[in-house]
Amino acid sequence: MKALILFSSRDGQTREIASYIANEIKAQQTCDVLNILHARSVDWAQYDRVLIGASIRYGKFHPAVAKFIKTHLQTLQQRPNGFFCVNLTARKPEKRSPQTNAYTRKFLQQSPWAPECCAVFAGALRYPRYRWFDRVMIQLIMRMTGGETDKTKEVEYTDWQQVARFAREFVRLPAKSL
Ligand SMILES: Cc1cc2nc3c(=O)[nH]c(=O)nc-3n(C[C@H](O)[C@H](O)[C@H](O)COP(=O)(O)O)c2cc1C
Repeated sequence: MKALILFSSRDGQTREIASYIANEIKAQQTCDVLNILHARSVDWAQYDRVLIGASIRYGKFHPAVAKFIKTHLQTLQQRPNGFFCVNLTARKPEKRSPQTNAYTRKFLQQSPWAPECCAVFAGALRYPRYRWFDRVMIQLIMRMTGGETDKTKEVEYTDWQQVARFAREFVRLPAKSL
């Protein structure tokens, strides 16, 4: 049996984190890493553990995330399961826990799914890759919140040691009999 790591990513950082987790746990469990947008017909019989990671854009997750959770709620609950959220607010350590990160807190309050392990990771800021409107908007938000405003910069805030710790927590969740 394998673990399934599903990601929702616009610019690639959540996909990177999902792949990193897969690599971290490969000694204990083989993994498939799959874009949640391409996960309409998952063969669940292959998977005995599931993790979902999703990034925030303009305050929201991609709608496919809530839709997937609603459709597959029972299947998720039957397996050891976890969730992680990626955003830039979490570049501040005091906003990097499920309780202190507003997006994640709201998600946990509103979702019918209560993940067995949950983490918040800081994402990446990649001005040169954004289209004009997004660049201006992110710059504005960064100015208001005391972050990087240099439009030529790419900054990765992800704490990879935190990601590795979470990967270990996820892979150690006790197995369930399917
Ligand atoms: C257009 C745009 C809007 C964003 N909106 C938010 C936001 O509202 N709050 C936040 O904390 N981070 C926001 N971010 C930061 C992203 O969550 C961060 O860049 C993350 O690494 C993106 O992950 P992804 O590449 O997997 O999509 C935004 C980024 C972009 C490009």
